[in-house]
Amino acid sequence: MRFLITAGPTREPLDPVRYLSNRSSGKMGYAMAEAAIDAGHEVILISGPVDIDRPRGAAVIPISTSDQMFRAVHQQARNCDVLVMCAAVADYKPANVSKSKIKKRDASLSLELIPTPDILASLPKQDRQYVVVGFAAETENVEANAQKKLQEKHCDVVVANDVSRADSGMESDENEVTILFRGGEIKKLSRAPKKIVARELIKIFANVSEKRLTKKIA
Ligand code: CTP
Repeated sequence: MRFLITAGPTREPLDPVRYLSNRSSGKMGYAMAEAAIDAGHEVILISGPVDIDRPRGAAVIPISTSDQMFRAVHQQARNCDVLVMCAAVADYKPANVSKSKIKKRDASLSLELIPTPDILASLPKQDRQYVVVGFAAETENVEANAQKKLQEKHCDVVVANDVSRADSGMESDENEVTILFRGGEIKKLSRAPKKIVARELIKIFANVSEKRLTKKIA
């Protein structure tokens, strides 16, 4: 099976030396890429800037901005069986990128931010050949918010995690997730190292893809 996995943060430039970003470490996405390779799948990893070694056997497409990630996902998606959107794509970017370094002044400084394109929501909604997995990073009402993302972004599966906890989610080595399926089923994976959670998730996604193929053939 061919997996397309996105991982890490994006960086939205303000000027030649500054950017807006987030705390995503890329650990979960990289763990999933490794787990997919270990399970014998082909992996293309679209990665934001992270401090982790490339998973051996994966084709890595490095990107920096949300616009670059948008283009890379659209170029690669039609050739995959499962798209896993694990990346923490910035929701906003500066309206203007200064060509020269913004100089310090005594007055306060306001930044105008504009929304970035939502990659998941921009994918074809009908007759899609691949399974789409979204992630939901939440600090409150985890399940309800994830359910909303599943519907609004037309995902087949959403993996939700509570990023307000210090021992789970962003930057941490462990994760605890709730998986929501389009058919209404919900499954919880208890807290475990990201590598273990990743292995379970890859099995689940491959299963969803296989079931869909069998349905199409039958
Ligand atoms: N995502 C995306 N394009 C964006 C922002 C997010 O494709 N511009 C994807 C993420 O990769 C993830 C899912 O959407 O799979 C949910 O991301 P999340 O940050 O949890 O939610 P947002 O849609 O950004 O909403 P909010 O920040 O309000 O929770």
